[in-house]
Amino acid sequence: MDREANRRDFGKAITLAAAAGMMGKKRLKAGSATASGRLAILGGNPVRTQPFPDWPVVRENDETAWREVLASGKWCRLDGDRAATFEGEWARRLGAKHCLATSSGTTALLTALNALGVGPGDEVIVPPYTFAATINVVMLQFALPVFVDSDRATFQIDANKIEKAITSRTRVILPVHIGGSPANMDRILEVAKAHGIPVLEDACQAHLAEWRHRKLGTIGTAGCFSFQASKNLNSGEGGAVVTNDNKLAEVCQSFHNNGRGGGDAAYSYVRTGSNYRMTEFQAALLFSQLARVDAQASIRSRNAEYLTRQLEQVAGIMPAVLSPGCTRSAYHLYMFRYDPQHFQGLPRSRFMQALSAEGIPGLIGL
Ligand SMILES: Cc1ncc(COP(=O)(O)O)c(C=O)c1O
Repeated sequence: MDREANRRDFGKAITLAAAAGMMGKKRLKAGSATASGRLAILGGNPVRTQPFPDWPVVRENDETAWREVLASGKWCRLDGDRAATFEGEWARRLGAKHCLATSSGTTALLTALNALGVGPGDEVIVPPYTFAATINVVMLQFALPVFVDSDRATFQIDANKIEKAITSRTRVILPVHIGGSPANMDRILEVAKAHGIPVLEDACQAHLAEWRHRKLGTIGTAGCFSFQASKNLNSGEGGAVVTNDNKLAEVCQSFHNNGRGGGDAAYSYVRTGSNYRMTEFQAALLFSQLARVDAQASIRSRNAEYLTRQLEQVAGIMPAVLSPGCTRSAYHLYMFRYDPQHFQGLPRSRFMQALSAEGIPGLIGL
């Protein structure tokens, strides 16, 4: 194997990965890693010395919104109107009938699973390649997560394998739009419909992403979002359930408010529940960030598409394939597979160290 040629490929890969700073303004020229002739991990100059842009982006409108809530003394949604205002606007942007803000993505999922009636002995179909919360929430209902393989090319649940996993106990199909790209919603809905099983979309990473021009989270029976600090829209912690189903929305609202009834029934307890309410501070921050979330999403898309075009030329680096129905990815994560065969068997862990040495942050997986 030609050692230099191999280094060239590797150098090119990491140079291009530099452009993965989804919000980054400057793009590095392909091949600049080879200008120094040596990888940073072997003593050469790193491809990137500038830090990546800070996240979250904080602007004056965020500070104003935060201070207004502070000064109002209405910090709880039961007293203020910020949570309701954010819910209305997030629902409008997604094209959903209802949105319920929650304290986190995990509690959004718990609320939706409870409202869908998932309990002991039930089975919930999930992909194995996801964040732990997707599985934890099922087990917290004393239900059984039933794993259906993830597809190696798209990283998403293999929708063609779902039907085989359905039993008389299957209560919900819970696909995850991992990385912010869509699972195959056509096939998932087809199977769900044939068996009369509700679909709960884990869209915790998929803000404003689309399947056939419909926003993720609004295609199944219900969808859940996370607004945790790393997310494309964030308030440190936070979440939301969206749905077009009036009854489900009502049950979610009650469940997340300790099972209380609405209006005059605020002190009657119509079901079990918990307190998963969002604070007014979280809601105010989310609302102020909506002013720039679309522009940020466009920058992410442009950068990710550029990166994909370049990385596709590097043997051994395989960017996640978008399913044909994907009309927009949120690119919360830029995912690719690494094949050591094209790098003289270099272990993935060493590749990651080399990438890091070049000033490019990366994670091995979820
Ligand atoms: C796929 C997925 N599901 C659920 C969650 C849980 O969201 P949160 O951290 O807001 O509770 C996350 C958050 O990282 C996630 O990525």
